[in-house]
Amino acid sequence: MAHLWQGVINEYRDRLPVTDSTPVVTMGEGGTPLIQARALSELTGNQVWVKFEGMNPTGSFKDRGMTMAITRAKEEGAKAVVCASTGNTSASAAAYAKQAGMRCAVLVPEGKISMGKMAQAVAHGADIIQIDGNFDNCLDVARKLSDSYPVFLVNSVNPYRIEGQKTAAFEVVDALGDAPDYHILPVGNAGNITGYWKGYTEYSRPYVNAVGEELPAVATKTPVMWGFQAAGAAPLVAGHPIDQPETIATAIRIGNPASWDSAIGARDESGGLIESVTDEQIIEAQRFLSSRDGVFVEPGSAAGVAGLIKKYREGAAPTGAKIVITVTGHGLKDPQWAVKGAELEDPTAAEPKRVDFDVVSVAAALGLD
Ligand code: F0G
Repeated sequence: MAHLWQGVINEYRDRLPVTDSTPVVTMGEGGTPLIQARALSELTGNQVWVKFEGMNPTGSFKDRGMTMAITRAKEEGAKAVVCASTGNTSASAAAYAKQAGMRCAVLVPEGKISMGKMAQAVAHGADIIQIDGNFDNCLDVARKLSDSYPVFLVNSVNPYRIEGQKTAAFEVVDALGDAPDYHILPVGNAGNITGYWKGYTEYSRPYVNAVGEELPAVATKTPVMWGFQAAGAAPLVAGHPIDQPETIATAIRIGNPASWDSAIGARDESGGLIESVTDEQIIEAQRFLSSRDGVFVEPGSAAGVAGLIKKYREGAAPTGAKIVITVTGHGLKDPQWAVKGAELEDPTAAEPKRVDFDVVSVAAALGLD
């Protein structure tokens, strides 16, 4: 039977805080591909899939939470929303706010968001404010602004964002028939690891929903959660906030995650870990995934892949396990690092061979006999 994917609220409405009269704001987010990562599976001796969140309407996983947050804002009659962002949240907030007919203000750290993400905020007509500080400073100001002025905060400190994001875990279980053994993902402000753990937990036991219905468990277990931060921005690994976080993976350049406690909770309740990966490991993993498995993600999104490769090299990765890695955003958001990653392998990688326009020259350039 024909079925057009209806977006995460309509697909999972019996497990989300909505009613029949909720004005759902959706752009068909979710339903993203779970791709078999053949090369990564071969390398590590596991069955590895990547959940490619770059396929969402604005190119990152943020759209799952944003459909809920903007829907809630609309339900409350908000006219304007605000968020702090390293780039993806602002792109998503800007698009969904416009879909809902609202104004959107975004606070971004000066000079530290990628060109593609800035272009999205501009394209959607957001009010863009650059703050002379980092993401943590932006979030602080955004919270205060929403406390004192008529603007609705759509960062993941808003619990509706987490509700939307938990649907990614539902999709993984629905696709595989049960939870995987491990779920691996990048960690920045720690909303996503919180959302996944909430989703996996709710799906693994009977669930009483907003209207008092008891839904049966869908999964028989929950996965072990592995989170990876960038080495220069790894407060959860250090055990204290980092004042001056630094990494080329600007998406996760965060020193004081808002969902700190729930990230630690996900780690400990699942018997998992949160560790760090270097910028070099991130670039190498981004390159591996794009050149070997055909999936192009932005640097921050490759932190989970980098983490699995790191653990494998340490002899600390599982074997024969079912592993899902969330790759959070599309590679086109920040293409400069893809080019750099290719050039690290081959300095001429980004220089196409120039030949005359005849088939013999092209064949010769390709090394064909
Ligand atoms: N990957 C990407 C591509 C991101 O944009 C983010 C967060 C994360 C991973 C980390 O997810 O914060 O839930 O732990 N980006 C936020 C933003 C902070 O403003 O776009 P998290």
